[in-house]
Amino acid sequence: MRRFVVVGIATASAEFLLDDIPGTSGRLDVGLRCIRASLLVSHGLRRDAMVYLVLRGGPNAPRILRIDGAAARFLRPDERSLAVLVKKVLASDADRTAAGFVEVKAGVAIARGDLERVVPDLADARRYVLEMGAPDLRDTPGLEEGNAAFFLGDSLGVDAPTRAQLTLLRCRAIGVGPIVVHAEDAIAIVSNELDRREAARLTRSELPALPPQE
Ligand SMILES: C[S@@+](CC[C@H](N)C(=O)[O-])C[C@H]1O[C@@H](n2cnc3c(N)ncnc32)[C@H](O)[C@@H]1O
Repeated sequence: MRRFVVVGIATASAEFLLDDIPGTSGRLDVGLRCIRASLLVSHGLRRDAMVYLVLRGGPNAPRILRIDGAAARFLRPDERSLAVLVKKVLASDADRTAAGFVEVKAGVAIARGDLERVVPDLADARRYVLEMGAPDLRDTPGLEEGNAAFFLGDSLGVDAPTRAQLTLLRCRAIGVGPIVVHAEDAIAIVSNELDRREAARLTRSELPALPPQE
């Protein structure tokens, strides 16, 4: 299982305009593209992936939107369709008095709170924070093994208090290259690296045993 946790200033309320998402939502558009990069592939959904948007902007903040690729249905890759889905979920007040995530649509859940709501989901996951200048993920052994969670910032990056929280959560910093890229592209790079490693491992395990040498 791979999890991506995007921490940012996007709105936690449904009061944004579908015709001007960047200008009216504190850059929820970044989060929408991160949903696509985390979960959607050509003609399909990654069933082994989950994405969390930590929404710290607007009147109902903080709130967390979580989408589980194993349970989500009818997710479409275009930003507007994803925005319509997120708007409906944010309009729900099902999480107002709940102590954790409440599923509002298949695979799509919402919770009041901040990073502390994500922690119970992480249990045995190895934790990483994507950070410019950190050791490259290509030099990070074991990235593809078992469960992993990757934290990243939105268009403004990860602020100092959040970075301190991630240190307490024992996140190890990794980089995805020498250029600061958009959050959704950082997710695509991590996903690609994991895909390559998993494919290589499968190929190795499918190789027939070599006959003993004479
Ligand atoms: C658009 S960037 C943030 C830019 C912000 N102005 C800053 O300097 O942090 C969004 C997020 O993607 C991740 N990211 C972008 N480029 C990266 C890189 N080369 N290595 C590791 N993480 C990166 C980081 O988590 C970053 O917070």
